[in-house]
Amino acid sequence: MDILMVASEMVPFAKTGGLADVVGQLPKELENLGHHLGIVLPYYRMVKEGGFETEHVNPEFVTTLSDKAVQGEILRASLAEHITVWLIKNDHYYDRDGLYGSEKGDYEDNAERFTFFCRATLELIKTMGLKPDIIHCHDWQAGLIPVYLKTLLKRDPSFATVRTVFTIHNLAYQGVFPKADMPLTGLPWEAFTPEGIEFYGKLNLLKGGIVYADAVTTVSRTYSQEIQTKEFGCGLEGVVQSRKEDLYGILNGADYTEWDPEKDRFIRKNYGKTTYLSGKKDCKRSLLEEFGLELEEDAPLFGLVSRLAHQKGIDLVAEAADEISRCGGLVILGKGDEKYERLALELRDKYHGKVGVRVAFDEPLAHEITAGSDFFLIPSRYEPCGLNAIYSLKYGTIPIVRATGGLDDIIIPFDPESGSGNGFKFHNLSKEAILSAIREATRVYEEKDPQKRLLQSAMKCDYSWEKPAREYEKLYLKTLSEDRRL
Ligand code: ADP
Ligand code: GLC
Repeated sequence: MDILMVASEMVPFAKTGGLADVVGQLPKELENLGHHLGIVLPYYRMVKEGGFETEHVNPEFVTTLSDKAVQGEILRASLAEHITVWLIKNDHYYDRDGLYGSEKGDYEDNAERFTFFCRATLELIKTMGLKPDIIHCHDWQAGLIPVYLKTLLKRDPSFATVRTVFTIHNLAYQGVFPKADMPLTGLPWEAFTPEGIEFYGKLNLLKGGIVYADAVTTVSRTYSQEIQTKEFGCGLEGVVQSRKEDLYGILNGADYTEWDPEKDRFIRKNYGKTTYLSGKKDCKRSLLEEFGLELEEDAPLFGLVSRLAHQKGIDLVAEAADEISRCGGLVILGKGDEKYERLALELRDKYHGKVGVRVAFDEPLAHEITAGSDFFLIPSRYEPCGLNAIYSLKYGTIPIVRATGGLDDIIIPFDPESGSGNGFKFHNLSKEAILSAIREATRVYEEKDPQKRLLQSAMKCDYSWEKPAREYEKLYLKTLSEDRRL
């Protein structure tokens, strides 16, 4: 199959969260299965300045937004040597510090920036003569592509056999814009209805992807069920339900060439299942030094690496910080909402020497925390997948998670008797609930035998991409075998 992925971020070019990991990793695994892959990404300043090898392949193309002719260019780079990454260049839209916004909030012209991105992608397919069987679109930024294919381009022979798959990485980010932005899209007003991309009088690009794609996926089985309920549906539960026949929950995988303590290039000492004790000790010592923390030799260290958003529940960690700092230490790496950044820094000041905080996006430090901590905290309010839970298992850094979405699928409660399970989870969003999970975890940590069994069980969990890639492959084939043109 010829598969074109369209997304607003991917490693190693541009990343703000787990979406980038998925888009940088899944294509490689699909290539291993014998498919031909391409990826489309905006040519952000971050990409421009990232030192990647790029070449201009097409001097210019023009697309129309409202009545305005907008020019773009196409550049080409590559992933893993032979996967083409198509970069959509328009400096007015993408040559900015952030991907989606600045400290002041989202960029005001995001509707225009990502409408352009979708139209440019379709332009690219035509001008470069690409023949994708599947266009796999990720999140709201790519949501208009399925809409165009089922409306404006319905009879365009270049797309006659193309099928679309749309993946929801986070239903809370929908790309909702005023009705006044509708003309930008060039879509007919017939699409601006509750059955189409209209959402309470506004334009909703994520909804567009969900309604018009041939198949819809999300990144874990539990989240695929949760988003059909009022509690997790963010107002789109009815829309998601209406696609339930074509909705699939496929759990993300991990790229173990990047996230494996035996090969990790960012950590103080590499270690594996048999060298765990000494390796981890060195990584922990170096992490404590880096944050200027002082802990007793055997005291547990808790780590947290996260976008600092309401979703991630850092306020719950703040409530547990008193007890954590009495029994051990805590390191936090995060960036995001100012409110939560401030909260984290207050914890650092309050629990001086026990809590370390870095407000930044820092890839190497994320690896060091994953390796150097004993436990990894993920107290999310909701979590579509939660890649950090998958990554930390491999490092023998035991996840303590809230039982929601992908976290609920990834973590099986540890049973000291049988030695089964890989972590700890709690259900209620309360101080008592997180504390009770932390206490249970530290009890196991204090006893040599159960601790060893837990580590063994966690480190042998295998979440490589092969299985999910095969599930996507099956879904692509199914979608292609059905007659889905309107
Ligand atoms: P989400 O996509 O919702 O942010 P995930 O856990 O699925 O959550 O993925 C987050 C990814 O981003 C992981 O690879 C994690 O290590 C990384 N990450 C998050 N915050 C930071 C940060 N401040 N610095 C470095 N990496 C981060
Ligand atoms: C989103 C989700 C996260 C998921 C990631 C990759 O950002 O919040 O749970 O792991 O996408 O799919």
